[in-house]
This record gives sequence, structure tokens and C-alpha cells, in this order.
Amino acid sequence: MKYFAVFGNPIKHSKSPRIHQLFSQQTGIPLHYEANLTPVNYFQKNIKSFFINGAMGANITTPFKEQAYNIADQLTERALLAKAVNTLKLLDNGKLLGDNTDGIGLINDIKRIGIAIVPESKILLLGAGGAARGIIQPILSLGCSLTIANRTYNRAQELVSMFSYLGKISSTHFSLLSDKKFDIIINATSSGINGEIPNISPKIIDNNTACYDLFYQKTLTPFLSWAQAQGARHIADGFGMLVAQAAYSFLLWHGVMPNISSIIKIMHDE
Ligand code: ATR
Repeated sequence: MKYFAVFGNPIKHSKSPRIHQLFSQQTGIPLHYEANLTPVNYFQKNIKSFFINGAMGANITTPFKEQAYNIADQLTERALLAKAVNTLKLLDNGKLLGDNTDGIGLINDIKRIGIAIVPESKILLLGAGGAARGIIQPILSLGCSLTIANRTYNRAQELVSMFSYLGKISSTHFSLLSDKKFDIIINATSSGINGEIPNISPKIIDNNTACYDLFYQKTLTPFLSWAQAQGARHIADGFGMLVAQAAYSFLLWHGVMPNISSIIKIMHDE
């Protein structure tokens, strides 16, 4: 049996074990996947003993993605660019490979739900934390223009300095958003966890705007309820991205790509 786990804190509500169990059933690849509640100062110790005891791979979630980046022996290009790792794989030579499948998971999901991203697209990214950083390079690679706005403006500026060599990227203040128009607004702030929304003008949304929230919950997220009330054309939460990033981790570990849409459907009906 191959062993896997997701490491995070909190982890109780993680859907990753269920997703990988469904991938296993779908592809016929047997595996054991559990959730590991990792005390904040024990990430390095726990992950090392996990792999010493024969595990083959791990997913990493909040707040350990940067630590996972630091302990990986080798990095994929997209993990290197994001400076964050959500997937670890034990290689045949005993080294740990770090990957980041969040960005490709987002792009995959945006396409799945029919929101077009073309080089002419204007995209607004709200937030400048770890979640935002993981998706910047895949968005810029599509050739579109990206504006980052963050409550703490200098964090948005830092990301622009980090990524400006990769494409069309700029930063702005929340307070200056009222007279700008965007095709897609992506909420990568953690405000939804506390039932809050970023403090931005409703004027940026009209019936041509598509809004995507990286956060998800059983009911409509606070950001999406707000966007819907302002008349947004399309709203979507991050559940599809969660399944898609898991599918790309599965591909890295097993060499087989699961069918994402059928798993989303099964879990929506559960
Ligand atoms: P994550 O890994 O989820 O990105 P993080 O690195 O702590 O977590 O970043 C949280 C992001 O959400 C930040 O951009 C934060 O803004 P600040 O840099 O100003 O702190 C943003 N955020 C959290 N709560 C918010 C709120 N109520 N309104 C607006 N932005 C919020």
C-alpha cells in the first residue's frame, strides 16, 4: 500500500483525503491517504518521520507551504516561482521533490466553468499572501494583464517587484479601485474565513464581470454573495480548484490524471 497525507493546521475539515480516495477508486490505484494535524512548530519533524516510515507523497496546506518549500531537496519550476510548495514526492534517489499545483488547479477550474482568459483579459487579484503568490505566474503565463490590490498596499508592491519579469503586472490600492474595470476578479484574501469581504467599491462590478473566490464553503462565500448582489455575470468558488490541484498532485505521484469533473459532481451530491 502507498501512503500519503495532507499536513496542515487546522486540518479537520480538509476534503483532500476524500478526494484522493475517490481518485483511487476512479483509477484503480490503491492508496492510503490521511489528514495530519501538525502542531505549528512540528512540521519539519513530522514530515521527516512520515517519509522515513515509508510514505510516498504529501500535500501541504496552510500554514506550512513556505516551510515545505524550504525543506524540499529539489523544486519544480512552478514551485520555485511561487516560493511555496503544496505537494511533496519522494523520488527514487531518496530526495524530496517539491511542486506547487495550486496555480494550474485554478487555471484548469476557470476554464472548466467557462470563464475565458485571453491575452486581452484584465484580471484583478485581491490579496497578497501565500494563496495569491501561488497563482500569479500561471495567470501571467497566459499573457493577460494582472493588477494586484491588497489591504496592506506594500505587500502588493512586493509581489509586483517579484513577478514583473514574467509579464504585465501592476499594483493598486483598494481605495483606487472604484473607477477601474476588470473582466475577472479573483479573491485570494483570507477574509471569507471570518465571514468578511475586502473593503472595495461595488462600482468595480458590473454585468460583464466574472468573480472567482479561492475560498469555498457549503453556502455562497461572503465575497461571492456580495459580487452576486452587485450583478456579477459569473461567480464561482474555489472547490473546483481544490479538486483540480489535488488531481495534479495525483498525476505527479502516480503518473495518471484523474477525471476532475466527475469527482466534483460526486462530492457536490454528497
Ligand atoms: P494565505 O496563505 O491564505 O494567503 P496570508 O499569507 O496570511 O494567508 O494572507 C492573507 C491575505 O488576506 C492578505 O493579503 C491579507 O491582507 P493584508 O496583507 O492586508 O493582511 C488578506 N486579508 C485577510 N483578511 C482580510 C480582510 N478582512 N480584508 C481584506 N484583506 C484581508
